[in-house]
Amino acid sequence: MPGGCSRGPAAGDGRLRLARLALVLLGWVSSSSPISSASSSTSSASFLASAVSAQPPLSGQCPPPCECSEAARTVKCVNRNLTEVPADLPPYVRNLFLTGNQLAVLPAGAFARRPPLAELATLNLSGSHLEKVRAGAFEHLPSLRQLDLSHNPLANLSRFAFSGSNASTSGPSPLQELMLNHIAPPATQQQNRSFEGMVAAALRAGHALRGLRRLELASNNFFFLPWDLPAYMPDLRHLDLRNNSLVSLTYMSFSNLTHLENLHLEDNALKVLHNSTLAELQGLTHVSVFLHNNPWVCDCHMADMVAWLKETEIVQDKATLTCTFPEKMRNRGLLELNSSDLDCEPFLPPSLQTSYVFLGIVLALIGAIFLLVLYLNRKGIKKWMHNIRDACRDHMEGYHYRYEINADPRLTNLSSNSDV
Ligand SMILES: *[C@@H]1O[C@H](CO)[C@@H](O)[C@H](O)[C@H]1NC(C)=O
Ligand SMILES: *[C@@H]1O[C@H](CO)[C@@H](O)[C@H](O)[C@H]1NC(C)=O
Ligand SMILES: *[C@@H]1O[C@H](CO)[C@@H](O)[C@H](O)[C@H]1NC(C)=O
Ligand SMILES: *[C@@H]1O[C@H](CO)[C@@H](O)[C@H](O)[C@H]1NC(C)=O
Ligand SMILES: *[C@@H]1O[C@H](CO)[C@@H](O)[C@H](O)[C@H]1NC(C)=O
Ligand SMILES: *[C@@H]1O[C@H](CO)[C@@H](O)[C@H](O)[C@H]1NC(C)=O
Ligand SMILES: *[C@@H]1O[C@H](CO)[C@@H](O)[C@H](O)[C@H]1NC(C)=O
Ligand SMILES: *[C@@H]1O[C@H](CO)[C@@H](O)[C@H](O)[C@H]1NC(C)=O
Ligand SMILES: *[C@@H]1O[C@H](CO)[C@@H](O)[C@H](O)[C@H]1NC(C)=O
Repeated sequence: MPGGCSRGPAAGDGRLRLARLALVLLGWVSSSSPISSASSSTSSASFLASAVSAQPPLSGQCPPPCECSEAARTVKCVNRNLTEVPADLPPYVRNLFLTGNQLAVLPAGAFARRPPLAELATLNLSGSHLEKVRAGAFEHLPSLRQLDLSHNPLANLSRFAFSGSNASTSGPSPLQELMLNHIAPPATQQQNRSFEGMVAAALRAGHALRGLRRLELASNNFFFLPWDLPAYMPDLRHLDLRNNSLVSLTYMSFSNLTHLENLHLEDNALKVLHNSTLAELQGLTHVSVFLHNNPWVCDCHMADMVAWLKETEIVQDKATLTCTFPEKMRNRGLLELNSSDLDCEPFLPPSLQTSYVFLGIVLALIGAIFLLVLYLNRKGIKKWMHNIRDACRDHMEGYHYRYEINADPRLTNLSSNSDV
């Protein structure tokens, strides 16, 4: 058990008390060396300081399943199978770890307390089996800067999850960093509407997230990124879209993300970047772009991108980019390609194309001859048609006759009587 944490049930343990004493002594020894305790952010100092502060019960209780350190302003309720957020969180908490639990649902005001958790700045809910995040789940956390909801199967993320449940009164969210990696639920749990659409609705949130600087959306199987998202978070510095299924960026506009510093697009399904995208990326002054491990298609459409790659400084991993299609170009480095390598093979090689023209002429001739033969033989055809018509008529009459027999009730009675 990490020191520096008061845990109610275990407090009576004698060995633990001994260990605590040792820690206190250690803290006393180290406090004679010039380490500023409470305000220091180095882990060793806060560790020792919190070991000291843990001895007498201080302001702020610690919920039983958690480990609290007032000096580090940290509460950890990690891997505890908690099904709800502890009610009695100490008011000093600045960093709250609720990872590896069984929360399932995060209701409105899940962290609203009286007095409010005014200091809470980083909240980590990663891997806590969250499936539903309700409107206003993070309300009344005025200092919340960083929120990690990664590794939860978020089948139902309210569109007001990051804004207030009362959308008309909630102001901008204080959030600056939002981690939503690996939050796609299994396909069977997904509703009809697209997962991308659900996440995008929450991110739009009535422009509440306009202060966001880091957005991580890796490993979500996104096929597209809603094109209007940049307009809702103009301050974005880091956008992580790694390990999704993005096929194209043509409909997206990055030009308004003027502060963008890192754009991660590795491990997607991108085939080529077109001129408009290239120009937009090039127009961003501080950006670094990562494009590794996409299935680049090296045909004539790739020429613009190859020319751009050779010039640009912004693609950090450009030396690692290789062609995946067509077969003959596989594993060729994009930077090594010459424009002469990049042709869109016509469907047929030219020699065959001319022979297809020839074939077309031959077929047209055959068709013309066929029509001519029909015309010359029109009398014979007329006779043949008459024969067919007569044959048909005979056949139809026979059918009609049989139908009348069946429909005649007397005949039917006759046959049923004969059965008796
Ligand atoms: C949490 O639940 C799992 C499986 O139900 C169990 O193996 C584990 O021991 C539990 N952890 C705690 C801290 O109760
Ligand atoms: C949240 O906790 C998980 C699990 O411990 C960790 O991997 C992740 O890096 C944490 N997130 C942040 C933003 O520190
Ligand atoms: C999410 O949960 C709410 C409340 O239970 C419900 O009204 C809504 O239909 C759910 N949405 C989806 C997509 O399941
Ligand atoms: C939202 O806030 C407005 C203004 O304070 C209030 O009139 C309205 O009733 C609130 N709506 C809900 C659903 O709480
Ligand atoms: C989902 O789609 C199926 C068929 O495509 C349809 O029958 C069902 O009503 C849809 N459900 C919802 C909630 O839209
Ligand atoms: C990529 O995403 C899938 C889910 O979309 C996940 O299963 C896989 O572990 C991710 N890969 C990496 C390297 O993160
Ligand atoms: C980009 O910003 C300009 C001016 O600030 C605005 O007119 C335009 O609508 C924005 N475009 C998008 C896609 O948000
Ligand atoms: C892309 O831009 C380059 C340079 O500006 C230009 O030469 C090329 O024709 C453009 N390609 C297309 C498809 O418009
Ligand atoms: C590309 O062209 C240059 C000069 O024209 C030549 O030296 C080089 O070998 C060519 N590279 C490939 C891969 O064909």
